[in-house]
Amino acid sequence: MGRLIVVSNRVSMPTPDGAQGGLAVALQAALRESGGLWFGWSGREVDKFTGSVSFEEISGVRSAVVDLEPQDVEEYYNGFANRTLWPLFHYRIDLAKYNRSFGSGYERVNKRFAEPLHVMIEPGDTVWINDYHLIPIASQLREHGIRNKIGFFLHTPWPPTRLLVSLPYHERLVRTMFDYDVLGFQTAEWLESFLHYCQNELGGTIDGEYVSFEGKTLRAVVCPIGIDFENFLQASKTDAAQALSERVKVSLRQLSMIVGVDRLDYSKGLEERLNSYEHYLQKHPESHRAVVLIQVAPPSRGEVEHYQHVRDHLNAMSGRINGAFAEVDWTPIRYVNRGYNRDELTALYRAARVGLVTPLRDGMNLVAKEYVAAQDPDDPGVLVLSRFAGAAAQMQEALLVNPYAPEEVADALHKALTMPLTERKQRHAALLEGVKNEDVHWWREKFVRIIEETDCRQGVAA
Ligand code: G6P
Repeated sequence: MGRLIVVSNRVSMPTPDGAQGGLAVALQAALRESGGLWFGWSGREVDKFTGSVSFEEISGVRSAVVDLEPQDVEEYYNGFANRTLWPLFHYRIDLAKYNRSFGSGYERVNKRFAEPLHVMIEPGDTVWINDYHLIPIASQLREHGIRNKIGFFLHTPWPPTRLLVSLPYHERLVRTMFDYDVLGFQTAEWLESFLHYCQNELGGTIDGEYVSFEGKTLRAVVCPIGIDFENFLQASKTDAAQALSERVKVSLRQLSMIVGVDRLDYSKGLEERLNSYEHYLQKHPESHRAVVLIQVAPPSRGEVEHYQHVRDHLNAMSGRINGAFAEVDWTPIRYVNRGYNRDELTALYRAARVGLVTPLRDGMNLVAKEYVAAQDPDDPGVLVLSRFAGAAAQMQEALLVNPYAPEEVADALHKALTMPLTERKQRHAALLEGVKNEDVHWWREKFVRIIEETDCRQGVAA
């Protein structure tokens, strides 16, 4: 096996406390084993783009990053990636902005990344590109003569054709995907949408997992991402986890806790969630002074207007609901605008009777899987999960809800909070099986194996 070259907009290097997300840990392990490299944006802005690369090695993981200039960040990251593709891929064409400068900035930055990257790729390396920021980079690498196998994994949904065609130059974007050998999607639904586009918009042909168009062929597969299960269990035993667990216990007293943990993003359905919780409080006066919702929502992508709007709106909503229902000794919502590390999250999840995960649209959603992993199997909490999260395809034993329907979510909350132990245990055991078996290592090994065994570019493959 050759080296693995991982490429993504953000690069995560090992941290001294090791308290990182599962994806970072899994990719770092793969890079360590294969002697590979993680390439991407440094997250820094410099006055003028130079293309110079900074290399680093931490605990056996090597990275190579480049700085971008302000116009790049504005047009590529805040622009095309987060104001155009993100809303479009999450079915929100009402929020998507289609400025030409975003599209050209996106292509420029992909070109700028490909320039130093192609020099680092050696024959026999397997190249793995991640997410919507970098869709056209394979085309750029091919122009530089790179013939290695290149796979692309999309962490978000892929939208239905009828929405995708609202993107000007949609065909230009999708054509570049035929320079990959393999495309990976989180669910069969997103894959189906992609195939539908290829067949109906491009006039391509499909033969099993293979899609051909204008003499090029790619293999498109479903490969759902998981969590780092073992690592997550270990994290629950750390001092940080124990300390937060104690604090939570003391502050909860007799309250039953519902937990939500999400990046502050409109796709997560946070406004709809608070609305549903308000319905629950209205319909169930017996829940007053007995239940609390802890919603953790670290702010994200603050330069983009819609993120500012949703933040303002949530501040107002949580304040209003608390004002309307609170009593001198009880507040129904604890709304927290900061992140917690993995160790602390295990404690928060375990203390919660209900995990409330209700995105309006989500590629996968790993919080749902982490919540299940953190439960005590002898007295587990209940997962209430949006049917529109990619995770729902694998997690049918959760209470699946339509996040747009507040009464339905309120009823599911009531059912979850009053569910008998036998049913809770049954549902949890079935969910745990999946979360444990199809973990992040399973995902990474499966996807890399598929790239390595696929030969779409016979005659030119390295
Ligand atoms: C989603 C995307 C990732 C992205 C992350 C955080 O999970 O799929 O590619 O890195 O959000 O967003 P940010 O814009 O802060 O990188």
